[in-house]
Amino acid sequence: MGLRYLLPFFVLATQYAHALIRFPCGQLVTERTDPLVVPGVVSPHVHQVIGGNAFNLTMALDNDLPSMATCTTCKFKEDKSNYWTAVMYFKHANGTFSRVPQMPNHLTGTQNGGMTVYYIQPTNRNSKVKQFPKGFRMIAGDPFLRQKKNIDANSPEAWASSFRCWQTSGFTDADNSSPPGASTQYDTIALPAKPCKYGIRSQLFFPACWDGKNLDTPDHKSHVAYFQGQVQAGAGIILMEGTCPSTHPVRMPLLFYETVWDTRPFVNEWPANGPTPLVLSMGDPTGYGHHGDYVFGWEGNSLQTAMDNCFDTLGLPDSCKQLTQVSDADMNKCTKASVVNEKVEGVVLNSLPGCNPIQTGPGPATLVSGCGAVSTTIEGSVPTAPPPAPTGTSPVYTPPPPVPTSSTPVVVPPPPAPMQTHYGQCGGSGWNGATTCEAPYTCKAQNQWYSQCT
Ligand SMILES: *[C@@H]1O[C@H](CO)[C@@H](O)[C@H](O)[C@H]1NC(C)=O
Ligand SMILES: *[C@@H]1O[C@H](CO)[C@@H](O)[C@H](O)[C@H]1NC(C)=O
Repeated sequence: MGLRYLLPFFVLATQYAHALIRFPCGQLVTERTDPLVVPGVVSPHVHQVIGGNAFNLTMALDNDLPSMATCTTCKFKEDKSNYWTAVMYFKHANGTFSRVPQMPNHLTGTQNGGMTVYYIQPTNRNSKVKQFPKGFRMIAGDPFLRQKKNIDANSPEAWASSFRCWQTSGFTDADNSSPPGASTQYDTIALPAKPCKYGIRSQLFFPACWDGKNLDTPDHKSHVAYFQGQVQAGAGIILMEGTCPSTHPVRMPLLFYETVWDTRPFVNEWPANGPTPLVLSMGDPTGYGHHGDYVFGWEGNSLQTAMDNCFDTLGLPDSCKQLTQVSDADMNKCTKASVVNEKVEGVVLNSLPGCNPIQTGPGPATLVSGCGAVSTTIEGSVPTAPPPAPTGTSPVYTPPPPVPTSSTPVVVPPPPAPMQTHYGQCGGSGWNGATTCEAPYTCKAQNQWYSQCT
């Protein structure tokens, strides 16, 4: 495709020996679940999940994802891993919220939303990289954070999470092609304050150094560490070798997520002098709480084979012959119904799903309960109790019916009535209430658990 000649970033980068695989994964489901942090229950805030369809409310360390998943939303058939991050909402002037839609990243295809995933080799070809072991999982970032970390401003960890505010659309333009995660004019660690005319790309680097022992740790972080060194503005984390600390000596592929948010529909609604109207699903208007989760699930040794053989500087899927590609149509066919009885997108919401009032910081955010949202979490803590037993009517956990309150979002159904009103529930697995809607609304099935009057 001759892209090498078109990408200033990569031309600039030829002084570095640099290689990676870079591929799109469409959306599997967007819902309030998080099997790492709150297994078995509804999670406090909404995530978008991508990858294999063995994703579940609980995911035991010994789950064999490649044999459990029957499809993946990712470009490579061998990849049955799961990846998830918070999603973005736009707060309208009247206080309501719309989910910011997503669009494919540059040069990725026609997948439905999702993310672009990178596995990046060390710049020094002599440093051997080891694929993640079976069962491995980790988290990058902290959803409770509401201020910049007080650490070396040029360290990889300081730039692990950032946002690119696109002012132009071309993929060769400097505001796309300059390296992500570097202290340039293009990236901010906070959510962009100005309107982003062509979208926002959120950028999240994971730690690439492992303790060599633990597949996971209680905080999902202590077994891994960011490599050390100083991030150069012209190279960014992506082109950096770094050194692993002695406590975490095993160099893994550098895992990197990009998510592209289509802010174009909201540009004219941007408040002139107000605070940013963007908010992440955990009630974070700062962006410092941006976070992502990873559960490794590649077949056998396939990721190792890719790391040992695929050295394209652009990471194009076509360049990695060792892996099998899935068509965009088949990626988009792989989806999973939400197990949480609420609407998180496609409608204007009165509040963020879950109990997520906007918390501006700078102190850490706190978990809130009692807002009437579908939730089984305990105020001020994450549940440690074992997951509730699945009910007889459903193969997975079905949340209890929500208790309507004055602050209940419009999407939560009122108590059963002979006729349902606008947005009321009118069907779904286990539903005993009214199944007809007041005119002019009709009962539309959203998924097997939920039909709604719209
Ligand atoms: C999710 O877990 C439940 C309970 O263990 C199980 O019955 C179900 O088959 C799992 N779903 C998938 C897609 O693996
Ligand atoms: C609030 O504003 C949004 C965006 O303009 C609009 O779609 C929605 O209907 C409004 N809601 C109310 C209750 O006025």
